[in-house]
Amino acid sequence: MTPRKIIIDTDPGQDDAVAILLALASPDEIDLLGITCVAGNVPLDLTARNARIVCELAGRPGTRVYAGCDRPLAHSLVTAEHVHGKTGLDGPVLPEPTMPLQDMHAVDFLIDTLRTASAGSVTLCPLGPLTNIATALTRAPDIAPRIDEIVLMGGAYFEVGNITPAAEFNIYVDPEAAQIVFRSGVPLTVMPLDVTHKALVTGPRNEAFRALGSRVGRAVAEMTDFFERFDLEKYGSEGAPLHDPCVIAYLIAPHLFSGRHINVEIETVSALTRGMTVADWWRVTDRAPNAMFMGDIHADGFFQLLTERLARL
Ligand code: RIB
Ligand code: CA
Repeated sequence: MTPRKIIIDTDPGQDDAVAILLALASPDEIDLLGITCVAGNVPLDLTARNARIVCELAGRPGTRVYAGCDRPLAHSLVTAEHVHGKTGLDGPVLPEPTMPLQDMHAVDFLIDTLRTASAGSVTLCPLGPLTNIATALTRAPDIAPRIDEIVLMGGAYFEVGNITPAAEFNIYVDPEAAQIVFRSGVPLTVMPLDVTHKALVTGPRNEAFRALGSRVGRAVAEMTDFFERFDLEKYGSEGAPLHDPCVIAYLIAPHLFSGRHINVEIETVSALTRGMTVADWWRVTDRAPNAMFMGDIHADGFFQLLTERLARL
């Protein structure tokens, strides 16, 4: 099986960190061409720092990491330190990165890579606000038909919002960017809160990470110990939802997920419902389907895969 060429676009974030670790631990399935960082959970300087911390934690300092857009297209930046802590990677004590940040801007890397790779050979995996992806699509519309698929974490329907009553954080931060991506015509697979809120790091699951006895296992357990506070307080859930790793797990084991190919539009006008993903789950409109919107996950299978892969690092 030829590894799938991907670019991870990310705003680390503890859950982004686990997604990056899962990708780096799966070279038979994933050829990580680069990591592009975007402002989201924390400002860009910290997301670009955190991505490199995670690559060095994984023992992969040769991974190419790029800094991208430092603010949304049309709004001021909204961050989530209340969830991820001041650094965005609170929990474990990890050394400052020594690996370099690439000089090229993340958007230029996205465009250049998609123009030079053979058409349909690269998958984009956004794990944060869609600012970098939308900027690349706007600056170079010719890349859209060259993208194999965009598999992203974002949005919510039955689960409603986590940053407002109507919107999930990644879409809320940059709804104009999300609208560009959802209207791009690129094949989309969406991991919304409807799925990720079923991927909860319960006590036993976090103990399984810790029991790996490795730096990675300990760091992931400590990230989760920190990251779960928000969801326990807000939802009373039994653990932190591992949002972003669902994207990478889908690439490795798509059978763990199920959903519907439906129309999803993004609210960009109303302040009340800004960033809402208006998912036509019941197909009550004649709007054309544009996204595989996931609704369910085999959680035990997901955690079994994740724990087994983290053990490799
Ligand atoms: O709403 C959850 C999403 O927002 C995750 O990607 C998390 O990392 C934050 O970016
Ligand atoms: Ca994220």
